[in-house]
Amino acid sequence: MTLHDQTRKANTSKAGSGDSGQIASRLLGWYDAHHRDLPWRIAPREFARGARPDPYRVWLSEVMLQQTTVEAVKSYFRTFVGKWPDVEALAAASTEDVMKAWAGLGYYSRARNLKACADLVARQGGRFPDTEAGLKELPGIGAYTAAAIVAIAFDHPAAVVDGNVERVVSRLFSIATPLSEAKTEIRAHVERMVPAQRPGDFAQAMMDLGATICTPRRPRCMLCPLREDCSATVSGDPERFPVRLPKGEKPLRRGAAFVAVRGDGAILLRKRADKGLLGGMTEVPTTGWTARIDGATTEATAPFPGDWRPAGRIGHVFTHFALELDVFKTVTEVAAPAGHFWSLAHEISGEALPTVMKKVIEAAIPGATKARRV
Ligand code: ADE
Repeated sequence: MTLHDQTRKANTSKAGSGDSGQIASRLLGWYDAHHRDLPWRIAPREFARGARPDPYRVWLSEVMLQQTTVEAVKSYFRTFVGKWPDVEALAAASTEDVMKAWAGLGYYSRARNLKACADLVARQGGRFPDTEAGLKELPGIGAYTAAAIVAIAFDHPAAVVDGNVERVVSRLFSIATPLSEAKTEIRAHVERMVPAQRPGDFAQAMMDLGATICTPRRPRCMLCPLREDCSATVSGDPERFPVRLPKGEKPLRRGAAFVAVRGDGAILLRKRADKGLLGGMTEVPTTGWTARIDGATTEATAPFPGDWRPAGRIGHVFTHFALELDVFKTVTEVAAPAGHFWSLAHEISGEALPTVMKKVIEAAIPGATKARRV
């Protein structure tokens, strides 16, 4: 590093840690011009004219966005607000319909909590609390989501720290501590930066900056409104941050999945237990997902005897493990065994099938899970 660089770095670090007001105002100026248009968002111009977000829509979007990308959420969000425009409507819906509308978005406990939360809020008069503490009492709302809702829906100053924000802050301040141990430090920086004016837009601007400019790889520092505040940019290697500890491989689990199809195209399904992974969702019969690489995944483990033929293998990655399922298919007219049901061909696309099960069914019967006319 040249002396010039070192001097700039020292100044920049000082500006970064000392001049939070300037960071916020640069960021908000950038957000006014470059914010993403998102279906749940009130754009800065509308906000300046007095428009305010609907807490129901903010809550719904934040729950959907937990663990899921903005692009994946958009169409689900539109479907949900089309079907259930307010919290009372969602409370009046059946859990089954909500699970069906959620199918494919993953992390299904979120859908059950969403419904439980809507029920509670509707029972309590239909208004969402406007404090982090009040929101955290509700099902499915943790610290991050509570902060995001009070900031975005109520424009209260709150430190909203998601993965994007962690990356931005790690770079702004060249935080060398591994991310898993730097959470408190990062939060303290964000708390200092949150402005008194437009804290909701500030939170969303941080998210947008992380998603569009301060990306994990190849950040577009030349376009960044905070490049002069950012000590990682000045050091020339922003991708070094956030620092991560090497992580272990995910364990691989294996099993077999059985697609029984009737002559009329109906598929044999069952509902998973309400609690646990993919709780309450629909699936084809499978073995346990515990088999090791040399474990039994053959047709011998099928739920009933039949002419089971191999139909390929699918893979799916969950948070804590990777799963491979060998898929078997048979054509049969058997009566549905206890706990199972035949889903008619035109109803399959509307079932609460998680993505892993859509992969299984598609491997056996291409196109079967896509929307079909009756
Ligand atoms: N990620 C999580 N919440 C978000 C929001 N409100 N806007 C954009 N990205 C997000």
